[in-house]
Amino acid sequence: MPRKRLCILSRKKSLYSTSRLVEAARQQGAQPVVMDTLRCTLVVSPQGNSLLYRGEPMEGLTAAIPRIGASITTYGMAVVSHLETMNVPVPNPAASIARSRDKLRCLQLLAQAGVDVPRTVMATAGMKVRQLVDSIGGLPCIIKLLRGTQGVGVMIANTRTEAETIVQTFWGLGQDVCLQEFIVESSGRDVRALVVGDEVVGAMRRQARGGEFRSNIHRGGEGTSIQLDAHFQQTAVRAAKCIGLSVCGVDMLEGKTGPKVMELNSSPGFEGLETATKADIAGAIVRHSLSLSRKSEAK
Ligand SMILES: Nc1ncnc2c1ncn2[C@@H]1O[C@H](COP(=O)(O)OP(=O)(O)O)[C@@H](O)[C@H]1O
Ligand SMILES: [Mg+2]
Repeated sequence: MPRKRLCILSRKKSLYSTSRLVEAARQQGAQPVVMDTLRCTLVVSPQGNSLLYRGEPMEGLTAAIPRIGASITTYGMAVVSHLETMNVPVPNPAASIARSRDKLRCLQLLAQAGVDVPRTVMATAGMKVRQLVDSIGGLPCIIKLLRGTQGVGVMIANTRTEAETIVQTFWGLGQDVCLQEFIVESSGRDVRALVVGDEVVGAMRRQARGGEFRSNIHRGGEGTSIQLDAHFQQTAVRAAKCIGLSVCGVDMLEGKTGPKVMELNSSPGFEGLETATKADIAGAIVRHSLSLSRKSEAK
């Protein structure tokens, strides 16, 4: 049997999550192949699609783990869907990554599937901000860019004037935003669950620093390991299934009535989570990705 070759699509080998995936692949007897997403040439041809890496044909990949940063979403998704057409199994298909990158689209699908989410409304230029605020239950409210990460582009408005000023600034820049009910009981903290396949392999509570309401680690939030109750675990796994991601970070607010899913991250960094939980997250992701190839062989 030839050795399994596990592709990790990532801009840099030195990133924590990438280097941990490389290490885990080796531990599981596979050969890791880190490919810089922007150095993949996608050749579409009636003779069969092929991929060149730094000019050389790349073949014989057992599976591929996409780690696609927000800044290269468009090309990254093209690379992932190209691999899919070449029958390389991926835990997160391009269509699912696209769904998760648009916060409103993601929430629409979750709500349709009966997953609890904060009330949210999309605001496009010319709408009455007062009515939009009322439609999500009033003030204070959260205003978000549809595509933001690491807490950038998430704001809070305590007054109508603040809401109007913020929304109109974004409209002036040609950006649509969404307004969202502020889940006050979860202010400054949230739960990150890492889903791999059908289970949560690690979870942490993130607590914001000082008076900050955003608990992102990049905004200075601190993570502590927690054991999630069954309701939170089931919600995270259901949300991942609904969007079609089999490796993802599910961010949930702790509402009075239970978990409210805010967003899904299809390329979750897991340095904070491995540090907080001491769990082998990389090992779980690699095991799952290699198992996809066995499933596709069995077909
Ligand atoms: N509706 C909300 N109610 C309370 N806090 C929120 C709400 N939405 C976001 N937050 C806080 O802001 C943080 C960032 O929001 P999020 O939508 O996850 O954006 P990003 O993609 O930038 O991480 C969350 O982790 C949470 O702490
Ligand atoms: Mg987030």
